[in-house]
Amino acid sequence: MNESQSELTALLLSLKNQLNQHNYSYYVLDDPSIPDAEYDRLFCQLQEIEKTYPDLITSDSPTQRVGAAPLGKFKQIKHKLPMLSLSNAFNDEDITNFEVRLQDRLQSIDHLEFVAEPKLDGVAVSLFYKNGQLLYGATRGDGEVGEDITHNVRTIKSIPLILIGKDYPSILEVRGEIFMPKSSFESLNTKAIELGDKPFVNPRNAAAGSLRQLDSKVTASRSLRMCAYSIGFTEGSALPDTHYEMLCKLSEWGLATNKEMAIVNGANGCSQYYQSLSMRRDDLSYEIDGIVFKVNNFKLQNELGFVSRSPRWAIAYKFPAQEEITTLLSVDFQVGRTGALTPVARLEPVFVGGVTVSNATLHNMDEINRLGVCVGDQVIIRRAGDVIPKIVKVVSEKRTLNPEQIILPKECPICGSPVETLEGEAVARCTGNLVCSAQLKESIKHFASRKAMDIDGLGHKLIDQLVEKELVQNVADLFRLKVNDLALLERMASKSANNLIKAIESAKETSLTKFIFSLGIREVGETTAALLSKKFESIESLSNTDVQTLESLQDIGPIMANNIFCFFSATENIEKIKELVSLGITFQNVEQGTSAELDGLTFVLTGTLPSMSRDEMKAHLRDQGAKISGSVSKNTSYLIAGESAGSKLKKAVNLGVKILNEEEALALMHISSE
Ligand code: IVH
Repeated sequence: MNESQSELTALLLSLKNQLNQHNYSYYVLDDPSIPDAEYDRLFCQLQEIEKTYPDLITSDSPTQRVGAAPLGKFKQIKHKLPMLSLSNAFNDEDITNFEVRLQDRLQSIDHLEFVAEPKLDGVAVSLFYKNGQLLYGATRGDGEVGEDITHNVRTIKSIPLILIGKDYPSILEVRGEIFMPKSSFESLNTKAIELGDKPFVNPRNAAAGSLRQLDSKVTASRSLRMCAYSIGFTEGSALPDTHYEMLCKLSEWGLATNKEMAIVNGANGCSQYYQSLSMRRDDLSYEIDGIVFKVNNFKLQNELGFVSRSPRWAIAYKFPAQEEITTLLSVDFQVGRTGALTPVARLEPVFVGGVTVSNATLHNMDEINRLGVCVGDQVIIRRAGDVIPKIVKVVSEKRTLNPEQIILPKECPICGSPVETLEGEAVARCTGNLVCSAQLKESIKHFASRKAMDIDGLGHKLIDQLVEKELVQNVADLFRLKVNDLALLERMASKSANNLIKAIESAKETSLTKFIFSLGIREVGETTAALLSKKFESIESLSNTDVQTLESLQDIGPIMANNIFCFFSATENIEKIKELVSLGITFQNVEQGTSAELDGLTFVLTGTLPSMSRDEMKAHLRDQGAKISGSVSKNTSYLIAGESAGSKLKKAVNLGVKILNEEEALALMHISSE
């Protein structure tokens, strides 16, 4: 064996070992060690080498099998027909090549008809029905032998124990995906963290973990759902001619199928479907990681057959990965306006969920300890939808010999004041208050922000300079600034300086809601600010109220009530409000004057609005007494829909809810859209 041959053999062995190890973590332990995208890369690398050197393929290669060995604890079930996997496409060209391959095999130039189905990210299952009765449910296992999970499957309400109707085959094996909806995943993880348990990395692991319970009561408590996507072994009656009709039959017999499935034509039709569903991916109530395209006609499917582990007649067009692996380079502690120290992970930039991510919040020391993360670690980053990127796991196999512990600083990294963590709180805080320039900068940024005093043109960089040059030492100083002061700042021409002073001047006239929000009372967001201004109607009556009255208000809990009460009990805060008023700030209670029209109405917003963010639109609506809800129901008064509106728009149309565009919504509020 020459040197390059032995290098190749060593590489093959290493790839096989790595993939086998990851398979075991994924399928047997329900605890994936690396992201799927990384797994796919290793798998493709192995496949490529084996394609070039077929003599090197061994029967134990991960390319020669479908999954991992089933877990010993459950009874094993041999599938009557193997449960296979899908080959992947990552771009439109792969889809065009897929269709061309099929046309070549079928010796036809006609475009093929495909069924498009969202690729649910859960756990593949087989349900075996005899004379309409559910006999057992099994996982995929290694594709040949799975685990008997009948006791758990029976707890899932979308799985019929008895089929509906009469025309089902006497033996019917249904295949599909068991998954956990996004909202159930979020609440399960919130609960796990509260109880000090390890949260699941993603909804798929949560579904897998919930199914692999020996105690079916645990499974029953986990809000799992099932969606059927094909059949396996059948006996006893003729089947329809097409996959689409088969899915419709499954639905008639009482099985859940996906509402988004559609028939599309040719590679072009596939690409269009992919584009349109990828825009709505975040609006779906469940996770999908791509679209599956299947040749619709069963006769053609049979003609096309299978190749090693997957059918030739189907392909999974994958979305960009939402989880990726990268290196934690360092951790900085940022100081917020209340002094909270937030550890921020600085990462080797990585493309995940459609954007390049180089920072991620680590929240607090509890989170760091829970993850067991050290500087230099390889970590899994997850960015799903618009959610801020998160470190979900440390890849412990890839840990360096000398991991660097992340230590909470004893002193504030900005002002050097002692850092304290109060008993029972996860958050560490700088005790410097207004001595700390970071706290000062952050509180001014909050005060000037859109939802607060909305000082146009007063951006973060400007605020940093104003504080550093000691032109502003508290929020009231903003109203004492003169054009000449601003000349000291970098990149501040006289026109910009004039504009900024004008903007500060016009921000003086504000609403009570915005003013309350701008005070930065702990945990008081815009919704609570709106509620308080509606209830109290003036800053005097709010500041004179007692804890009991605050607590009696709907949506205000004891902690928030206490925060509000303590804020107004502190003399320096009352002095600050007086000072602001003496500098000319006025807050008319907009809610009082113009609320009548929108009072009691509920709005839902969806899609991208042409000239403002959804938050800005919400602020206008709240100012006029409207309520905002996250989901459309029969109680919704109006849906405000922008571009790429998805399922909410559909639902509103179905329920007959009135739909407005941005212009119409502004007209309703008598706001000019100029
Ligand atoms: S068809 C023979 N359709 O994706 C083809 N699979 O590797 C079998 N999946 O874990 C799969 N949604 O459970 C098919 N609409 C869908 C699917 C789907 C999710 C999963 C499947 C398996 C993986 C395929």
